[in-house]
Amino acid sequence: MIETLIKENLKHMTIISGFEIKQKSKAYEEAGHKVVHLELGEPDFNTPENIVEAGIKALRSGQTHYAPATGILPLRQAISTYVNKYKHLTSTPDNILVTPGAKPILFYTMMATIQPGDEVIVPSPGFVVYEPLVKYCGGIPVALPLKEDYGFRFHPDDLKKLINKNTKMIIFNSPHNPTGGLMTKEDVLAVAELLVGTNILILSDEIYDRMIYGDTKPVSLGSINELADQTVILDGFSKTYAMTGWRLGYGVLPKRMIQYLQPLVVASNSCTATFIQYAGIEALQGSQEGPKTMIQAYQDRRDFFIKGLNAIPHLRCVMPQGAFYAFPNITGLKMTSQEAADYLLEEAKIASIPGSSFGQYGEGYLRFAYATSKENLAEALDRIESAIGKLHL
Ligand SMILES: Cc1ncc(COP(=O)(O)O)c(C=O)c1O
Repeated sequence: MIETLIKENLKHMTIISGFEIKQKSKAYEEAGHKVVHLELGEPDFNTPENIVEAGIKALRSGQTHYAPATGILPLRQAISTYVNKYKHLTSTPDNILVTPGAKPILFYTMMATIQPGDEVIVPSPGFVVYEPLVKYCGGIPVALPLKEDYGFRFHPDDLKKLINKNTKMIIFNSPHNPTGGLMTKEDVLAVAELLVGTNILILSDEIYDRMIYGDTKPVSLGSINELADQTVILDGFSKTYAMTGWRLGYGVLPKRMIQYLQPLVVASNSCTATFIQYAGIEALQGSQEGPKTMIQAYQDRRDFFIKGLNAIPHLRCVMPQGAFYAFPNITGLKMTSQEAADYLLEEAKIASIPGSSFGQYGEGYLRFAYATSKENLAEALDRIESAIGKLHL
């Protein structure tokens, strides 16, 4: 019965994310094994105290009612000030849409724009929800390869070849999930050269842009003035402020676009939880010691973990420039990425995500999230090495 009611597009929608793998690894934990969890892209830190306190204070002072659909003005002001400074934008609060997590920005934008037959260029490998959502909306995902030997950046010529009259949207994500790749200023300028003057929408997913290691500065696509009118920036609090469970994110969009998205917001969430928005103001305007400490820890873990992976025979891993993911090449194991992930879970109780989950160009890799303690990472390295040793390659 239900089968006949469900839309065809939804029947074909599958998302293999850390949540599913975590579920799968539960069976081993129930049998008494200690699983090292490297599957979920989630900070292992708790939300900084000052933010928690601001949330509690807002709750106690009665911020428990509906908020405006686009977000409370003081938060939109705080976000606008922040993005103008950090991303070099020229936004006003009218360009800010606050949402429960950053994902709704992706969802609303696609629901609002993609029509059957529209092509959407997506990074490949790429965040697990981009392609399924494009397809659900009736669009056609077109894979833009990110290559290991190019630091998991795209090549402008590859992008140029994919653009045609059916191209409706291009998604960029920097720093990048799952590879940790980072777009350079040259990449952003190349995009501008290709897209200024077209009516192609740019969706720039910048959720990891505070997690950059080394000297390279993030360059937001929205900072190119000529692109501002065709760019939707997605960002949020989940990663930088360890606030995944609060569900607080935002978009920086052309004002006219927000007017079109507003009915979708009203019809789905009404608004983002009011007291949580007050915590968001504290996150942006209060002490930045919390994120600073976390980012230093990620950098330290990255250096340790990538060195360790590269010391394991048959693996090699590009040094990620941002986010908290390692994306080692596992072709030396002579298995598919699914087989390798299954083998490591079964043999070593290491939970990871097969590269194939991230699209066509993800095959041959595994994703490990290193947002966990160094002790766990050390244990993971030992177990991975010993499991690979047993393969007698
Ligand atoms: C690339 C990317 N974009 C967006 C998100 C969504 O974040 P949020 O938890 O704020 O919805 C994630 C979370 O994993 C992500 O990896």
